[in-house]
Amino acid sequence: MTTQIAVLPGDGIGPEITEQAERVLNSLGLDLSLVHANVGGAAYDSHGHPLPPETLELAKSSAAVLFGAVGDWKYDNLVRELRPEQAILGLRKALGLFANLRPAILYPQLANASTLKPEIVSGLDILILRELTGDIYFGQPRGVRVLEDGPFAGQKQGFDTMHYAESEVRRIAHVAFQAAQKRNKKLCSVDKANVLETSQFWRDIMIDVASEYPDVTLSHMYVDNAAMQLVRAPKEFDVIVTGNLFGDILSDEAAMLTGSIGMLPSASLNASNQGLYEPSHGSAPDIAGQNKANPLAMILSAAMLLRYSLNHDAHATRVENAVRTVLEQGLRTADIYEEGTQLVGTSEMGDAVLKALN
Ligand code: IPM
Ligand code: MG
Repeated sequence: MTTQIAVLPGDGIGPEITEQAERVLNSLGLDLSLVHANVGGAAYDSHGHPLPPETLELAKSSAAVLFGAVGDWKYDNLVRELRPEQAILGLRKALGLFANLRPAILYPQLANASTLKPEIVSGLDILILRELTGDIYFGQPRGVRVLEDGPFAGQKQGFDTMHYAESEVRRIAHVAFQAAQKRNKKLCSVDKANVLETSQFWRDIMIDVASEYPDVTLSHMYVDNAAMQLVRAPKEFDVIVTGNLFGDILSDEAAMLTGSIGMLPSASLNASNQGLYEPSHGSAPDIAGQNKANPLAMILSAAMLLRYSLNHDAHATRVENAVRTVLEQGLRTADIYEEGTQLVGTSEMGDAVLKALN
């Protein structure tokens, strides 16, 4: 049976890196149908909306979504509902993609790319698990209101709401414990329980779920301390689980530990393993269309797609090994280039991965 994949290249470097990932998927001899649709600024230009109904329908009816990147400065002045980022938030919500896996791996060949000392980061392999459909990102009410009383009476006030329902915390907790079971069995839950009610509640549920996973060691850390420990001793972590807002911030920090955000894939999964797969980096409009972008995060996202949504573990490993091979061969796009290596463009990197696969 043919498996349908929605391909949403988006803006900036999205289309050119997506093309390379598609070449990889098409070379595996699987019965896949890759169907394209517009998203983000590109969809605003063509359809007047960053997430047109036909794009959403395609995503919903597909086994997985391969997502490039969205955003460009030229859309910065649009009202919030029409900005490119709304496409990704809308897809997360509509598909119920509550579990966001963001691995931060430092490839030995790229040990010098990090801004931290090699002994701090060499061999780094951590997984950030970010809750993706709740928290202050989606909490209601939100908006701007006029205050009627209190010290700021008569003034306008911007406000958002942070909350987590019990089932929302439980389901991400289970994903986190199970991910830890497959790794080094260490789970660190990050919150701000010394200040926030939502965080104390989150922590209590984490502790409760822990009793079902006696083989996993659960620890807790406040988010400010976690931000510090991530640069002080990142290898102390194995799996980190945290809410939507803290996860947004910590996953960027963790990505930068590796020095090469151009290498990091991500997966966002729902309860039935339907997923959206995208590189952790953005749309980089400054280098778009110049054959300079690193396609490896996108190709590694396709590998995650094979593993998590299509259950093709062996193919996923093949693709990941091909990426390691091209790094060993010394091929580098500009973002990871260093002296003594060979500078290549987006499509040449794609060629090399295809060659390594076969
Ligand atoms: C991310 C991004 C998004 C987020 C933006 C683009 C809405 O920063 O995927 O981390 O905040 O979740
Ligand atoms: Mg972010």
